Amino acid sequence: MRILFIGDIVGKVGRQAISEWLPKLKQRYHPTVTIVNAENAAHGKGLTEKIYKELLRNGVDFMTMGNHTYGQREIYDFIQDATRLVRPANFPDEAPGIGMRIINLNNKKLAVINLQGRSFMPDIDDPFKKANQLIEEAQKETDYIFIDFHAETTSEKNAMAWFLDGRASAVVGTHTHIQTSDNRILPQGTAFITDVGMTGYYDGILGINRDEIIKRFLTSLPQRHVVPDEGRSVLSGVIVDLKEDGTAKNIERILINDDHPFEA
Ligand SMILES: [Fe+2]
Ligand SMILES: [Fe+2]
Repeated sequence: MRILFIGDIVGKVGRQAISEWLPKLKQRYHPTVTIVNAENAAHGKGLTEKIYKELLRNGVDFMTMGNHTYGQREIYDFIQDATRLVRPANFPDEAPGIGMRIINLNNKKLAVINLQGRSFMPDIDDPFKKANQLIEEAQKETDYIFIDFHAETTSEKNAMAWFLDGRASAVVGTHTHIQTSDNRILPQGTAFITDVGMTGYYDGILGINRDEIIKRFLTSLPQRHVVPDEGRSVLSGVIVDLKEDGTAKNIERILINDDHPFEA
């Protein structure tokens, strides 16, 4: 089982990076399944039905979300029917959408779980308790468990990975939009990286136009976030190889931009 996971796709530049690079990545790595974090795919905030379908057409098999899940009003109308998408499972039960889905991949079952952190993030239910509960459920019927833990702090993400070592096949961090170089296999067999990084505008700040962000730091005044529609792009991801027993064999980073070109 080989999972290609691509971090937060931000706006049009991010979506174009997917259509340009995903076919090449598939050719090189032959993933069993391709999962992306799509919480910023629509203009940097949330996801529309059109973009959900566009990503599926462009070779994405499955999507995870995060704190921007409900950033576009129309998600309320299509999230229940979006069978290839999970939103953070520790949103209160009243929130539309679900946090775990099970995918069938040639006689094997993969559970995809999305969770969201609580340190320096909006209030939400306990992701650790939720992880326990969902893993117990998933273990009854799946061979592999993949978790996107969408969280701000490195410590919370590391705590989750160690908490789940040996119980999840992989725990990958998202949300900070900056890739960390700590990809590893924990002693009981869980693949982990603190943050996968983002896919979008390379010359901005976290995929957003830099001028307003810098101005905010200079003035402490609120600024409008502008997500550019064109410019140089970065694609950030990981390739995770899993063994038959559900533990991880390897986790490798992928980073493509003009400073780290993809060599075919
Ligand atoms: Fe994000
Ligand atoms: Fe986020």
